[in-house]
Amino acid sequence: MKKLIVGNWKMNPQSWDEARDLAGSVKRTMSRVKKTQVVLCPPFVYISPLSGKVGGGLFLGAQDANPLALGSYTGEVSYSQLYQFGVSFVIVGHSERRKMGETDELINKKIKSVISGGMKAIVCVGESTRDHNGEYFGFVKNQIILALKDISKKSIDQIILAYEPIWAIGASASMSPRDLHEMSIFIRKVLRDLYGVFADDVRILYGGSADRVNADSLVKDGNVSGLLIGRESLKSKDFVEIIKLVDAI
Ligand code: PGA
Repeated sequence: MKKLIVGNWKMNPQSWDEARDLAGSVKRTMSRVKKTQVVLCPPFVYISPLSGKVGGGLFLGAQDANPLALGSYTGEVSYSQLYQFGVSFVIVGHSERRKMGETDELINKKIKSVISGGMKAIVCVGESTRDHNGEYFGFVKNQIILALKDISKKSIDQIILAYEPIWAIGASASMSPRDLHEMSIFIRKVLRDLYGVFADDVRILYGGSADRVNADSLVKDGNVSGLLIGRESLKSKDFVEIIKLVDAI
């Protein structure tokens, strides 16, 4: 299975010119990238003008989607509207959205809409703090079980699981590859208990202060299939370097 690098632009960049340049430099790099898929998740307004840039291993993703197809929901954008503009991945349940009030129930509903709409869901899970008793394992397991409730074995290959410990997002350092390795094995076990051999179709990503210095080791030693990147995905030089480093693994 190919590795995956996801750039979560959040509410950036400020201008369309910067967004176009950023996507352009990633697009140019893709001709030399063989084993890695890259997903750019810009704010909604940049999705339509960027839809011409996808292809050749580069995909467009959304940072959220309303699970309903249409209706009177001021300010919302539906998953089916996004699909028409070439969006093939949707981030669901990012901790910044959970903080705004998204429940496990809503996240489960969104995942179901995304996959029934023919797109892949990048499902974010992760604890806010680590305790000495390892209770965070149970927390992450519960988040996974609730997010994937009633999602069948048949659809599980449309799920990507992004483990993002909240304490490492936007922080000065990522988690250690060693701790990540432990967590990735745990997540794989949770998925196998739920889906048997089908669980192996799920790519596990890591997110939280990944950069060009730690990217290689996080993926290799952390035993994950790729990275979900915030800040560094806005620096074209660094982001392109991360893509190349991961592709070379
Ligand atoms: P960061 O963000 O790479 O800036 O830590 C990751 C994320 O929020 O997905």
